[in-house]
Amino acid sequence: MRRGRPLSGSFTPPGDKSITHRALLFGALAGGITRISGANRGEDCAHTAAAMATLGALVEPAADGWRVTGTAGRLRQPQGAIDCGNSGTTMRLMAGPLAARSLDVVLTGDASLSRRPMRRIAEPLAAMGATLEGQGDACTPPLRVRGARLRSIEYALPMASAQVASCTLLAGLDADGVTRVTLPGPARDHTERMLPAFGALLQVEPLAHGGRRVSVRGGQSLAGTDVRVPGDFSAAAFLLAAAASEPGSRVTARGVNLNRTRTAFLEVLAEMGAEVVVERERVETGEPVGDVTVTGPAALSAFDVPPAWLPRMIDEAPAWAMAAAAARGTSRLSGASELRVKESDRIASLVAGLTAVGIEAAERPDGLAVTGGRARGGARIETRHDHRVAMAFAVLGARLEQPIAFDDLASVPTSYPDFFDTLTALGAELVPDA
Ligand code: S3P
Repeated sequence: MRRGRPLSGSFTPPGDKSITHRALLFGALAGGITRISGANRGEDCAHTAAAMATLGALVEPAADGWRVTGTAGRLRQPQGAIDCGNSGTTMRLMAGPLAARSLDVVLTGDASLSRRPMRRIAEPLAAMGATLEGQGDACTPPLRVRGARLRSIEYALPMASAQVASCTLLAGLDADGVTRVTLPGPARDHTERMLPAFGALLQVEPLAHGGRRVSVRGGQSLAGTDVRVPGDFSAAAFLLAAAASEPGSRVTARGVNLNRTRTAFLEVLAEMGAEVVVERERVETGEPVGDVTVTGPAALSAFDVPPAWLPRMIDEAPAWAMAAAAARGTSRLSGASELRVKESDRIASLVAGLTAVGIEAAERPDGLAVTGGRARGGARIETRHDHRVAMAFAVLGARLEQPIAFDDLASVPTSYPDFFDTLTALGAELVPDA
């Protein structure tokens, strides 16, 4: 991959992955039909769609997404294990409803997902009365979920994780009494925004430090609805980082989700000196949406991301690292140990890749420091089966004269099947691997 010219133009990012997963899952649990338009077409969401079909929903491809005929809560016992591929969201969200039914299901994943901790969902679900068995202390997959009649709990999450909160709330929908979860920080709130569209009542109380307490009463049934999925901010972030990093670049992401729990990276880019303009703001299926234009300044400046912002840019850390590599000075990310348990250990993957292209990067237990400079091509990046690491370094490669190579780019369609077409359309030049 190497530079064609400064990036310019506009693009429509893929449908939001988090929202597509939820629409498929809630549609499968609901009675009646759910039509999902603008869905993410990547492999992660395809795994959720296949899992929902295995559990008894009728999931049919539609023009711009999916048509789901739900099970009205009556999930079917699958014959074999359910493969979640690379997708932690599929496994963690699905475990909630499975735990609340008399089912006995084994959930498996690829090499990356098989290393990810499921203890964080096993704890609340076991406290509610289900039995979860994974491997070792971290309770890694394969994960066996044996459901039961659940009792409600009050659960304070140790980390600001939307996946854990969603899993517990979905189990709570079928538990006796009121389940309450407390999030210590501003993790994404798509579950709370979307469940009411399916007819569920939730109570959300804001807390200090951007956290919140969410309560749900058990015994509520869901009804199918239409979901219009906005563009995925986390996918758009790579191309916006590319625009910020190259003087003279100007790129617009159209129809992108601007949920405040996701967009701290725009604030970071503005702090670094990029011009960020948001236009055509509107609301679609309970989510704020707009067009975002980022213009690269003559030089980006380093910026230390306040740890409190991290939950609002948890998936944008790889894109941030590429902007930091182009900035003057040292930028730091801290309070970010959650990055160690994503599709790869992202702190280690980013530091290794940056070092390989000649950028000074230092690993800390809970983050990393990146000193901007002149990156050199010719390196080979190990993507570690992590789509966001692959896309981040592709974006960095787009501004180098010498191409950089990748051990493997097969992970990119996990979330963004058209990524390279879009990057090329905006002006990057791709060269075949030597
Ligand atoms: C997601 C939540 C985040 C995020 C992941 C998708 C979701 O994970 O990193 O890509 O859809 O709920 P955590 O909740 O574990 O932080």
